[in-house]
Amino acid sequence: MPTATKNLHLSELAPRTVQSEIRAMSVACDAMGGVNLAQGICDTDPPEIVTEGAQKAIRDGHNIYTRLDGIPRLRKAISGQLARTHGIEADPEREILVTCGASGAFEAAVKALLNPGDEVLLFEPFYGYHAAMLRGNGCVPVPVAMTVSGEGEWRLDLEAVRAAVTSRTRAMMINTPSNPAGKVFTRTEIEGLAQIATERNLFVFTDEIYEHFVYGAARHLSPATIAGMRERTILMSGFSKTFSVTGWRIGYLVADAKWTPSIGYFHDLTYICAPAPLQHGVADGVEQLPASFYSGLATEHEVKRAMLVDALRKAGLTPHVPDGAYYILADCGPLLKGANAAEKARDLLRRTGVAAVAGSAFFRAGGGGENLLRFCFAKKDADLRDACARLERLAETE
Ligand SMILES: Cc1ncc(COP(=O)(O)O)c(C=O)c1O
Repeated sequence: MPTATKNLHLSELAPRTVQSEIRAMSVACDAMGGVNLAQGICDTDPPEIVTEGAQKAIRDGHNIYTRLDGIPRLRKAISGQLARTHGIEADPEREILVTCGASGAFEAAVKALLNPGDEVLLFEPFYGYHAAMLRGNGCVPVPVAMTVSGEGEWRLDLEAVRAAVTSRTRAMMINTPSNPAGKVFTRTEIEGLAQIATERNLFVFTDEIYEHFVYGAARHLSPATIAGMRERTILMSGFSKTFSVTGWRIGYLVADAKWTPSIGYFHDLTYICAPAPLQHGVADGVEQLPASFYSGLATEHEVKRAMLVDALRKAGLTPHVPDGAYYILADCGPLLKGANAAEKARDLLRRTGVAAVAGSAFFRAGGGGENLLRFCFAKKDADLRDACARLERLAETE
């Protein structure tokens, strides 16, 4: 083969990064004009303070690069909110980075803190992007399976977590409330994980993007609040979900000042900064929205959860009722045709026009989820009602 041809090939990492099943289902859904309950798009309306603030910022000329760690006003507002809602003290000048979403935060943290070959524990079912981001950077996601109780609740076995730690393990990822299971980790679980992380000297990545979406008696607890955990905890969150601005790409990361400079430099390399005027809009929201805005989010989504749970039951799909986030995993039962979850999701889309994600997207390859589908309920009421009506007719379709 001539040298020039020999050199024209994909990187070794490229085959490990493929289109996510979530995006694939969104494309299939758009192609048939269906209702997309696949992607966590969250198309409810953003707060007006936030959208007005961003528009004003554009008019006022905030259209240039910001500091690599974000505008001071937003970092200060985030710091205030962390202290008020979680009792977490974070210095806005040294311990907070504004990032391009929680995803940009995680990418920069992986690059700054982990080496190729390092293992990271994920609790399965896990958010597929976490695993893909690790693989895309040469790290090794190590799934620890959660088990389902008789009541359909996802449980974590701390002994299984301990057993999964090897000499190559560098970190664990705690996503609470979790996507896709909607699991809100209990204090006992988080304290148990903190103990393992301390014993084995691991970083703890926490993805708390759904912190305000918590239902019933469940309460969100940030692992960063556990005594002795601040130094090893890399807290990631953002405004995609809270302010329904998934396309704005504004998130943040909170970590010890030992780690934030390097994480910030990696974030700078890829993104330079989070979108400037949108940082201003989000800062207006964090500064001005009252506590009732956040509790209202939970109340509003609890109603949407009930609508979808009811429709899934009527459709003959058995939902695992989540305590948090805004997804429902449902058992497909015998109604949907297909050899695996991806085929069942396509069968559902063809028969009802409702897109869901194959449960297998949240498990290791061959690890399960083949009889599960994930449905998102962060939709405008009219769209959710439409989706529910379509689902309820599933049994009448072929
Ligand atoms: C657990 C989890 N983390 C992060 C993200 C993405 O967050 P962002 O839009 O801030 O990058 C999502 C989106 O679905 C998610 O479910």
